[in-house]
Amino acid sequence: MKKEIGIIGLGVMGCALARNFGRNGLSLALYNRHLLGLEENVAVNAIQDHPELKEASGFDDLKAFIEALERPRKVIVMITAGEAVDHLLSSLTSLLHPGDLLIDGGNSDFKATERRLNTLSDLGILFLGLGVSGGEEGALNGPSLMAGGSKEAYELAYPYLSRIAATIPSNNRALAYFGSGGSGHFVKMIHNAIEYAEMQLIAEAYLFIRNTLGLKTDQIGDVFDAWNTSDSQSYLLEITSKILRTRDEQGLVFDRIAPIASYNKTGASALIEGALLGQPLSMVASALFARFVSKQRPTQAEGSSIENTCSKSVSIETVHQAYAFARIVNHYQHFSMINASAHHYQWDIELKDLCEVWSAGCIIRSSLLERLAQAKIDETSLFFNSDIQFELGNSREEIKAVLHAAYQSDSALPGFSNALNYYLQLTGNDPSAALVQAQRDYFGAHGVYFKDEANRLVHYPWKP
Ligand code: 6PG
Repeated sequence: MKKEIGIIGLGVMGCALARNFGRNGLSLALYNRHLLGLEENVAVNAIQDHPELKEASGFDDLKAFIEALERPRKVIVMITAGEAVDHLLSSLTSLLHPGDLLIDGGNSDFKATERRLNTLSDLGILFLGLGVSGGEEGALNGPSLMAGGSKEAYELAYPYLSRIAATIPSNNRALAYFGSGGSGHFVKMIHNAIEYAEMQLIAEAYLFIRNTLGLKTDQIGDVFDAWNTSDSQSYLLEITSKILRTRDEQGLVFDRIAPIASYNKTGASALIEGALLGQPLSMVASALFARFVSKQRPTQAEGSSIENTCSKSVSIETVHQAYAFARIVNHYQHFSMINASAHHYQWDIELKDLCEVWSAGCIIRSSLLERLAQAKIDETSLFFNSDIQFELGNSREEIKAVLHAAYQSDSALPGFSNALNYYLQLTGNDPSAALVQAQRDYFGAHGVYFKDEANRLVHYPWKP
C-alpha cells in the first residue's frame, strides 16, 4: 500500500510533525539522509522509538522513498532553511511528476520560496511555502500553519494539514492561506519578529524588576505567573515564569545561565524587509540588537561592573502597565508591516485571519491576539482603533516612570524605550522630520513639502 504523505528531515520538528500525522491516522513514508557516523538509520529509528509511527515506512534512499508514495505525491520538507533546501529540491525534481506537491515547512526566506516556486511551477510541480510555528510541542500536538504559494497546492494540502493544526478558540484550525508566492513564509517571518520583541519585553521586565526593584529570580517568576492570569496572558509569559522558578539540587537553574542570546535569520530578515518597505520596525530591531550586544559584552558570563541601585519608586503594577503598552506597540508595528507588504506584493492578507491563526499553536499565542481577532480594527486609526489608542494614552505615564527609574539604576530597556519613542513620534507634535527634509533640500535640492501644498515637492533657495 502506497503512503499518503512523505516527510523529509526527521530532526526535532520533522519527527514531531510526523508523530502528529501518525496519531491522526495518516499513512507515512519518512526519509532522512544518511551521513556516516552522524545521521544513520534516522527514519527507521524514529519509527521504532515512537508508537504513533509504527505503521510508517522509513527510508534513507530518496528514490525508494518517493516511490513509496501514492500519486499525486505529497512531500513535506522539514530541513534547515538555506542552500540545503535548494540541493534537496534539485535532487527531488527528477523523481517527481507534474501535479506532485512539495511543501517546505522550514523557516525559509520568503524570497527564496518565490524563486523555488517559479522553478518548480515550470516543471508542473506544485509548491507550498508553509510557516510552521509552535516549536516541538506545537508540531507534536497542533502547530499553527501559515501557507502561501499556488492555490491549487493549498487545496491539495488542506485535507492533510487541517488534521494536524491546532484548534483555535472559534473551533476552526490554526491554518490559513495568505496568497501567492512566499506569503506563507513571509507571515512566519513576521510572526518571528513579533516573537523576538515579545521575548525581549519579558526579558526587560525581568531585568527591571530584578535590578531596579530588587526581587529575586523565583519571585519574578511568581510575578509573571500572576500577570499570566490577567489580560497579559501569553505562552511566552507562561514559559518564562516556569523557567524562572525551575530548581535543581544547586538551586535556581536560571541563575546559572550566561547572558548570551543567539539567533537564526528570521528576525534580521524581517528588519531588513521592513527597512526596504519603509516600515519602522524598531521593536524587532531592539530585540535583535540586544541579542547582538549580548555577544559583544566583554564580561559575558561574569555579570556587570556597574552596581545597580535598587529603588522601590515604581510598583510592580506600573511595570505591568508599561509591559502591556510596549506589547501593543510591538503588535501594531508588525501588523502595519503586514498591511504594507500585502499591498506591495498583492497578497490578500486579512488581519483577522492572521490573529486567528496566531491565537493557537504558535509561540506568540496570547490573549492579546485573541482580543485583536475579536476587535473592530480600523485601518485608518493609529494603534488598531480608538479604544486601544485610549488605553495606550492611559498607560503612557507608567512606561515613562519605568524608563525613568531604569536609567536611574543604570539598566537599559531598549524595547520599552523604543515603544515609548515610537508612540511619542506618532502621536506627538514632532516637526523634526521637516528639518531633516529641509537639510536634504539645502545640500541636495531634494525639495520640501510646504504645509499648504503637502503633495508637491518644491526646492527652496535657502538663505538666511
Ligand atoms: C516557532 C519558532 C521557531 C524557532 C525560531 C527561533 O514559531 O516555532 O519561531 O520557528 O524557534 O526560529 O528563532 P531564533 O533562533 O532566531 O531565535
